[in-house]
Amino acid sequence: MDGVAETDKEKDEITQIIYDESLRMGRLVNELLDIARMESGHITLEKQDIEVVELARKVMVKFNKMAEEAKVTLRFVSPDPPIQLHADPDRLEQVLTNLLSNAVRHTAEGGEIVCKITDVDSAVRFEVIDTGSGIPESDLPFVFERFYKADKARTRGNAGTGLGLAIVKNIVDGHGGDIVVQSKEGKGTTFTMTLYKP
Ligand SMILES: Nc1ncnc2c1ncn2[C@@H]1O[C@H](COP(=O)(O)OP(=O)(O)OP(=O)(O)O)[C@@H](O)[C@H]1O
Ligand SMILES: [Mg+2]
Repeated sequence: MDGVAETDKEKDEITQIIYDESLRMGRLVNELLDIARMESGHITLEKQDIEVVELARKVMVKFNKMAEEAKVTLRFVSPDPPIQLHADPDRLEQVLTNLLSNAVRHTAEGGEIVCKITDVDSAVRFEVIDTGSGIPESDLPFVFERFYKADKARTRGNAGTGLGLAIVKNIVDGHGGDIVVQSKEGKGTTFTMTLYKP
């Protein structure tokens, strides 16, 4: 509006920034609404009988391009037979999306991310394992808290708002499951979610 952009190229660049930032604000508003609803007990899980191996595979595919750009390898390890769970497919997708996007963003070139599903009789175990930067041990108890960010300075752009894992925890709790994190700085991080069969 100030006429800062003199050339078409500059206009395109600035428009792109406005577009990216508006997407980011949209995401932020949605995350805050999600948290507020969940914490006021209004989490509405649309539970159905779903097949989780296929669901997880579908989520992995969304990250192929991002992983390629970040030069990290994505690997999916799962049993052949399908696994049925009674769960909310959209929410489960949201959980895996957050865990995978965190893993990709915190893993340097040449690293590897494995999404592993294991059928353990009464439950299904989902692991997202990365060879990334890891989380400082002293911070581990706080990762599922709202607005926790290991790198306090990186608050803009793609870095996110630190709400993802708080939402993940709420969703997992809502399913009666559990989620834990193991991490070693400089070595990598593993998030393990367990969801119980009906
Ligand atoms: N796989 C990981 N490796 C290293 N650090 C991680 C990993 N996953 C999460 N973290 C740390 O935990 C913080 C919180 O993660 P969370 O998903 O809650 O927020 P975010 O990714 O920063 O933002 P949002 O998910 O809201 O867009 C991250 O900012 C990062 O510091
Ligand atoms: Mg996140």
